[in-house]
Amino acid sequence: MSEVRYCRLMGLSKGSPSSNNLLVGPHGLAHFRYMRRFFNAPVAVLDELCVTYGSVCRLGFGPLRVVIIGDPTVLRELFATSTESFRWGNKFNVLGFVVGNESMIVSDGPDHTRRRSSVQAAFSRRRLNGWIPMIIERTDVAIDRLTDTLKERDQIVDLYPIGRMLVLEVAIRALFGERLAARTMEIGNLFERPQEYLESSFFKQLPHPFPFTARSRVRSDRRALDAIIDAEIAQRRSQPSGDPLDVLENLVKEGTLSDSEIRNQVVSLIGAGYNTTAASLAWMM
Ligand code: HEM
Repeated sequence: MSEVRYCRLMGLSKGSPSSNNLLVGPHGLAHFRYMRRFFNAPVAVLDELCVTYGSVCRLGFGPLRVVIIGDPTVLRELFATSTESFRWGNKFNVLGFVVGNESMIVSDGPDHTRRRSSVQAAFSRRRLNGWIPMIIERTDVAIDRLTDTLKERDQIVDLYPIGRMLVLEVAIRALFGERLAARTMEIGNLFERPQEYLESSFFKQLPHPFPFTARSRVRSDRRALDAIIDAEIAQRRSQPSGDPLDVLENLVKEGTLSDSEIRNQVVSLIGAGYNTTAASLAWMM
């Protein structure tokens, strides 16, 4: 069996514990040094590990053990593998703290299927097409706003924050309809600190209950976001708008998710759809 095949076994199946030894990786003090650096800022360490141990190697131990896969052949196999072979709910899953442990992004098995299919129904082709005029209209408004503020003909403008705000505006309108669009900035601000927190080092994200810390501030941002979403859920129950494009109304009407599950999916959709798309847009421009 080739090394590549062993790595696939290690990364995807439960395998035997001894199969860990089949993978190369650092030992002794170097191992601890690499781990400390990896959990602080992984990118440079990944390059170094690749040069020293090859594009498929291991790092860490116990629940902190990771298999690093950088070989395109192995990656192709990995991406083609059924999602049933992967598990999310590990002890060190830090994403759940921000998006909520009932978010589909951090769910497995039947819970994942139920949460995902509920949200998927809200993203039908008909609904996506229905958003296009709104996306064009918001883009036109953003361009007009920009050209109105330009003072000189050759002025250099950073388009990233403009594109980012546009993407957020579109996401808020798509999820909540027109009513909440006026609070786009407020919602964007409530996402700032959680986003920064998720990008901070693994060690800074270790769970703790202490007040006046980055973690406690993220907790309070999340509470504020939950309050906004709760008010929107209540509003849709008491006075449904009947807007077929409103994703939240659709989730409430469908009734397969609890309120806290709905909250977690909404936060995940904004979080997952906002920075990713804004970064892609910036890259394209
Ligand atoms: C260029 C834009 C985007 C990129 C590069 C991107 C990338 C990804 C990736 C890599 C994952 C897998 C994450 C993982 O399982 O660890 C993912 C999942 C997900 N993304 Fe995106 N995404 C983009 C846009 C969006 C948008 C616009 C939305 C929502 C409106 C969205 C919602 C989600 C959700 C809900 C999941 C979790 C799916 C599940 O667990 O079944 N993404 N995305």
